[in-house]
Amino acid sequence: MCGIVGFVGKNIKVDYFIDGLKKLEYRGYDSSGVSYDDNGKFCTIKKEGRIKDLEKELGDIVNKNVNVGLAHTRWATHGGVSDENSHPHTNEDNKISVVHNGIIENFQELRKELISRGHVFRSSTDTEVIPHLIEECYRGNLLEAVIEAIKKLEGAYAIGVIHSEEPDKIVAARKGSPLVVAGNEELSIIASDVTPILKYSKEVNFINDGEIVELFGNNYKIFDLSGNPIERKPIHIDWDEELAEKGGYEHFMQKEIFEQPVSIKSAISGRIKNGQPCVKEIENIKSFIENDLKKIYVVACGTSYHAGLAFKYFMQNHSDINVEIEVASEFRYCNPNVNKNTLVIAVSQSGETIDTLEGVRLAKNKGAYVLAMSNVVGSTIPRESDSVVYMNTGPEIGVAATKTYTAQIAVLYSIGSQIMKWKNQYSTETEKIIKDIENLPEIYKKVLDNEDHIIELAREYVNYKHMMYIGRGTGYTAALEGALKLKEISYIHASGYQAGELKHGPIALLDESFPVFAIVPFNGLREKMISNIMEVKARKARVIAIVTENDEKVIEIANEVIKVPETSEDILPLTVAPVTQLFSYHIAVLRGLDPDKPRNLAKSVTVE
Ligand code: F6R
Repeated sequence: MCGIVGFVGKNIKVDYFIDGLKKLEYRGYDSSGVSYDDNGKFCTIKKEGRIKDLEKELGDIVNKNVNVGLAHTRWATHGGVSDENSHPHTNEDNKISVVHNGIIENFQELRKELISRGHVFRSSTDTEVIPHLIEECYRGNLLEAVIEAIKKLEGAYAIGVIHSEEPDKIVAARKGSPLVVAGNEELSIIASDVTPILKYSKEVNFINDGEIVELFGNNYKIFDLSGNPIERKPIHIDWDEELAEKGGYEHFMQKEIFEQPVSIKSAISGRIKNGQPCVKEIENIKSFIENDLKKIYVVACGTSYHAGLAFKYFMQNHSDINVEIEVASEFRYCNPNVNKNTLVIAVSQSGETIDTLEGVRLAKNKGAYVLAMSNVVGSTIPRESDSVVYMNTGPEIGVAATKTYTAQIAVLYSIGSQIMKWKNQYSTETEKIIKDIENLPEIYKKVLDNEDHIIELAREYVNYKHMMYIGRGTGYTAALEGALKLKEISYIHASGYQAGELKHGPIALLDESFPVFAIVPFNGLREKMISNIMEVKARKARVIAIVTENDEKVIEIANEVIKVPETSEDILPLTVAPVTQLFSYHIAVLRGLDPDKPRNLAKSVTVE
């Protein structure tokens, strides 16, 4: 997740930018850079690597006094990790300098048009179109030029812009990515979050989507997209810096759970539009899929495996495309049936899991086409695969996968529906599911509003020693993931089962000391799930049912009920995930454990 910091005022030291970037380090980054005014011109210095590499490059310049500047930590999405792709990006004569957080979806079209009008590009980023567009729109007023230019952008952004002909000003704009502004007697400051700001002011203004802000001297003004001023009083923040890094949440895991309305939007951005898949990253294999594809094989571990399993159900439910899945540590040794007609999808949020990596190597040796899905640009699995689709959720710091899991399912469904489309198997039913995915940001806001109720339940269940999660179909994949989340951060024994398997063994475990989470869809397998709930209740085990909003029957029979909005059954793992994540999170906190750093686990598992 990129980080932006900009200052305007009198006698700002270049060091202020470095200090600001360091406050944003926790967001994750792979390169950094700064632009500042230098005797009427802008000087831009950027460096792949850590902020200390940028500091080294700057040398004594850190003590220099400047009047305006922008700095950035980049977390690569479009274009590899390099000095050229780092921000700020400038137009050709370096008069305009831009930092950006987000993704410009239509950058390819814009880039082509700009090149045809004579612009020369120096990087392979989506961001670089912005300074060129602003250059075309500039007629002596930076605010007006930015307003005109951003109307051409599709996607998500927070941007900061400076122009050497107006060296006393920063113009910044937001659509979808965060931006905060503040000022004191000496300077004004813009940043991606409050952490770099708190040192200078605790009175901050959170910029909303569709707003532009002009910072000058020690003040700032907010405008709408028509240039009309917006009056809004700043908010007083009394967080300390550590709390601010976590956006006011107690732990990164909680923050990341609550980021899901935004992270899911970013993951599907440019991949789904109006109920239609449009996954550009796999266009190069369209003919392979149309003519040669006989089987898709998903290889993954842990939570990523659960996302892959949901994908398998989705593909099976809506196409006759053969999908197999295996956990990577088994795939490596089970002589998998893959060949040149197989598309292997290697799912790994870290991109470094050794078992998955070895699976990639094996699949390539057997002649399969390997598509990686990862959240970390430039990580090993994408590098060794034939191509990659990045999840674009921003870094996940908590060890337990939360926002990357929901992004994985959404991106896998986008890829799957794109494949169905090319195979002429894209039905109106699938279109409905894809539309449900587009609605997920709103759905998530509703689900996350239930946190207080989930905390109450966590208090009630914190002392149990075992729990079981049951479901059918995609509900089964949600059950597996719910159980994994609980055991990994709360150390309560939990297992996930296909509800129909209860009577073949696990039901023997059940009594009043063994609560069961039942994941109940709205239609389809609902009646079967109700029978399973009755079986559980007959053994005196308590039932916590996750149901869709109006399921009165289940509401009557379960001991506890958590409601999620009604969607198609394939979406169940996506709507249920924030509930089971929050439940596990609060149980861990109530037990006095650190959910961000569960014992014996690591964020990327690079040993066998
Ligand atoms: C669970 C979790 C792990 C990972 C697994 C695979 O919360 O984080 O189960 O999902 O170690 O990791 P990646 O996706 O990085 O390959």
